[in-house]
Amino acid sequence: MENELLTSSVLLRDVVDTDLVIFFAQQQDPTANHMAAFGARDPNSWETFSAHWAKNMAEATNTIKTILFRGAVAGHVVSFIHFDNVEVAYWLGQDYWGQGIATAALKLLLGQITLRPLYACAVKDNRASLRVLEKCGFVIAGEDTGFSHARDQEVEEFILILAA
Ligand SMILES: CC(C)(COP(=O)(O)OP(=O)(O)OC[C@H]1O[C@@H](n2cnc3c(N)ncnc32)[C@H](O)[C@@H]1OP(=O)(O)O)[C@@H](O)C(=O)NCCC(=O)NCCS
Repeated sequence: MENELLTSSVLLRDVVDTDLVIFFAQQQDPTANHMAAFGARDPNSWETFSAHWAKNMAEATNTIKTILFRGAVAGHVVSFIHFDNVEVAYWLGQDYWGQGIATAALKLLLGQITLRPLYACAVKDNRASLRVLEKCGFVIAGEDTGFSHARDQEVEEFILILAA
């Protein structure tokens, strides 16, 4: 089916409006916010969330996909341009963690985006995200620091690259 890729029970499809309320609820999860560290500055603002999503969805260079797991909206996976590099990111609802879903979803996205290199970032203590990236072939290429509003402190992150 066009715009859909299937790997076992994980499917990517284009985002539809009804997904957004689910993504917003997932964005509000304090554990996920702490983990990601660089999520929305105010994760509880629907106005900010919807403006951010409208802008990103309208940007032709972005690839934004809903992750379905056994037909349910589990989260999203994206690629976007960040400082001239194409970067990937993902976010799942907590009910879907620990089942290989992010890894499967990122592998599906990597099959859609032929451009290399691709980049990703994860705070050094986000072991799950670092493992997802490692399982998809990314390697650590550098590090950086930045202020995390979710943690209210400066945090260290790894920059990862998928070369080929
Ligand atoms: C990060 C996230 C996407 C991972 O999703 P997921 O579907 O649970 O990931 P997967 O199941 O595909 O893989 C997770 C891997 O990390 C491992 N892992 C999880 N927690 C870990 C920890 N604390 N220490 C070490 N490894 C850990 C898992 O064992 C698994 O590796 P394995 O397959 O070798 O056993 C999910 O937790 C999430 O959405 N978090 C909030 C948002 C976020 O952090 N996004 C990324 C921003 S960089």
